[in-house]
Amino acid sequence: MLVTKGLTRACTTATHATTLTTLSLLLEAASSVMPLASPEAPPRADADDALAPDWPARGAVDFVNVSLRYRPGLPLALNGLTCSIGAGEHVGIVGRTGAGKSTIAAALFRLVEIESGTVRIDGVDLRTLGLHAVRGRALAIIPQEPVLFRGAVRRSLDPLAQHSDEALWAVLETVDMARTVLGLEGELGAESDESGSNFSVGERQLLCFARAMLRAPRLLVLDEATASVDHLADERIQRAIRGAMRSTTLLTVAHRLHTVMDYDRILVLSDGKCAEIGAPHALLQEPASSLSELVDLIGGEVGLKLRDIARRSASTAGAKQE
Ligand SMILES: Nc1ncnc2c1ncn2[C@@H]1O[C@H](COP(=O)(O)OP(=O)(O)O)[C@@H](O)[C@H]1O
Ligand SMILES: [Mg+2]
Repeated sequence: MLVTKGLTRACTTATHATTLTTLSLLLEAASSVMPLASPEAPPRADADDALAPDWPARGAVDFVNVSLRYRPGLPLALNGLTCSIGAGEHVGIVGRTGAGKSTIAAALFRLVEIESGTVRIDGVDLRTLGLHAVRGRALAIIPQEPVLFRGAVRRSLDPLAQHSDEALWAVLETVDMARTVLGLEGELGAESDESGSNFSVGERQLLCFARAMLRAPRLLVLDEATASVDHLADERIQRAIRGAMRSTTLLTVAHRLHTVMDYDRILVLSDGKCAEIGAPHALLQEPASSLSELVDLIGGEVGLKLRDIARRSASTAGAKQE
């Protein structure tokens, strides 16, 4: 985890950074609490003042020929990525390990500065903004390894103590975690350790999702947990997202094709580039598409089921438009 080291080093100059040890926590922190101090990325920029107060009101994202490497000398993790995501669109991001999926989140939150190209949200070039504006506005991320803050559950949900208990319970209800928290000694005041080890990975992700929801983001990036989220927890997360994020732009990095087969579009990443982007059913009509290849690789019953989900979702989408 080179970037962890790099970012941790960058962070030790920030005031609260000493306990930040993992990239996940940095991602979280970046999206919810503090700016990372780094000379080339000031917390404030002149352009911030000109920014509409409700930016990003729509949550549309444009990547134009974006290249990024984690450190000089390392290969490009994004290599000329170009794609546009519409306001309120739900896009699943798939591709092999190392294709650059998580790096898309890093570029959006400017955890790593891009080397060339442009990332725009609602038409605003992120590089013209200070980090405060990029991370403090209505963008949120749920990282691959969800990490809770040390201390009470309340603090993990609402690190800046901006919300009422009622609001906290309401989001816990939405993500189907209210009962779990009610069952804890101390409820919202129950202590969790830094790694959140008293919660399962799935529960931690639900809590991170609850935290993201409290911020009512216009743009949410969900980096699906790879490890040991049981199917039940996975379904809970997906249900909660579907319910709560209808009009929010949603980018979901999916490790299971299941998760995103009924999304509006799927972006297949390959070697840091967009190999293709399109509605799942449409891509699956093309036998040589990258998505078809991925589904065929799985094959069998599961492959058929995936195609079926895509087909049904396409016909519902068609019915809605009529
Ligand atoms: N923290 C890091 N430091 C250096 N290289 C990294 C780091 N994270 C990812 N990479 C490299 O960047 C490329 C894209 O990685 P990543 O975005 O994590 O892929 P994915 O999420 O699709 O598995 C890979 O070659 C990976 O090895
Ligand atoms: Mg990843």
